[in-house]
Amino acid sequence: MKIFEVYSLFDVEPVEADGALLYDRLGNKYLDFYGGHAVISIGHGHPHFVERITKQLGKLAFYSNSVPISIQKDLAHKLGELSGYASWNLFLCNSGAEANENAMKLASAHNGRKKIMTFNGGFHGRTSLAVAATDNPNIVFPVNEGAEILRFAFEDFEGTQTALEQGDVCCVIIEGIQGVGGVCEPSAEFLRHLRSKCDETGTVLILDEVQSGYGRSGRFFAHQHAEIEPDIISIAKGMGNGFPIGGILIHPELKPTFGMLGTTFGGNHLACAAGLAVLEVIEKEKLIENADIMGKMLMAELEAIPEIKEVRGKGLMIGAEFDFAVADLRKKILYEQKVFTGSSSNKNTLRLLPPLNIGEKEVDQCINAIKQALK
Ligand SMILES: Cc1ncc(COP(=O)(O)O)c(C=O)c1O
Repeated sequence: MKIFEVYSLFDVEPVEADGALLYDRLGNKYLDFYGGHAVISIGHGHPHFVERITKQLGKLAFYSNSVPISIQKDLAHKLGELSGYASWNLFLCNSGAEANENAMKLASAHNGRKKIMTFNGGFHGRTSLAVAATDNPNIVFPVNEGAEILRFAFEDFEGTQTALEQGDVCCVIIEGIQGVGGVCEPSAEFLRHLRSKCDETGTVLILDEVQSGYGRSGRFFAHQHAEIEPDIISIAKGMGNGFPIGGILIHPELKPTFGMLGTTFGGNHLACAAGLAVLEVIEKEKLIENADIMGKMLMAELEAIPEIKEVRGKGLMIGAEFDFAVADLRKKILYEQKVFTGSSSNKNTLRLLPPLNIGEKEVDQCINAIKQALK
């Protein structure tokens, strides 16, 4: 059997990793400023991560959600403590798309409505509702076309207000910072406007923090820069540092009923051990503060590169926009300078998503690599 080929691949196969470094079969060393697409939060092979998962594996790797699983409660407790949402509830699943799918279902169960408000450039995953809410017709197929989607531009205060005032919108789903769309941020004013219009109209506000959450923006969640509280927050990616785990944080006003949501693998013992290890390292090594400091340093250095027209983002979720398509530049940065970087649906934007524990040395290496590749 062969692999069903749906991915366009880098011509490098990492086989080992350590911190922010990746190694190929020949022992070539690469700096990871892509983080496997914003997944690697605490660095590759972190000893605490390895130890916690290994220990759990030796005890019990999996049993279904039909029995009490104490480690889920430990994870929820730690997540509540670090994120500032201690009084909320947690539902665990396996990926970002699944988190958003559950978030939208839960919103609909709450208010009985079905229209979904989303935004230009948004990406929410590839399952049924999540892909319908995503702004990319190339990955939406006829079976996904049933959802009632209302799509707006960021900062369309008037259009979103008029639509929400109809009183029939189930939920608004918006990324804290758009990742795939090219590191674009809704303004704090726009998020506050959505919050207040959702309050007035009984609409559920979902913040998709799958990519921008878990400390990446220099706060636990990117929406916390705007000082709003949504009703549901979706998480995945950095949550497991590579171990598949996702979830939704749920405001206490949204009540559960037995059987309302469910999953076989979500919240399994191993995934929770991985999730706890990530939070423990984030806390102990002050990685949110580090993301803020290193992000500011990286952004300042990028702004000084004349070929870069705009630098967007917060913390270690950064988009550098050139006035040309960056595909070739990215190849040079990878093959000649040995640094992994990310792309986005905006062809001129280079995306940087390194592990949250990088230091000044790695920032300098990345900046030098970009400069060399531009020569
Ligand atoms: C903001 C956002 N939401 C959802 C997803 C989907 O996550 P997953 O690929 O884990 O389903 C992604 C993935 O890139 C994302 O960036």
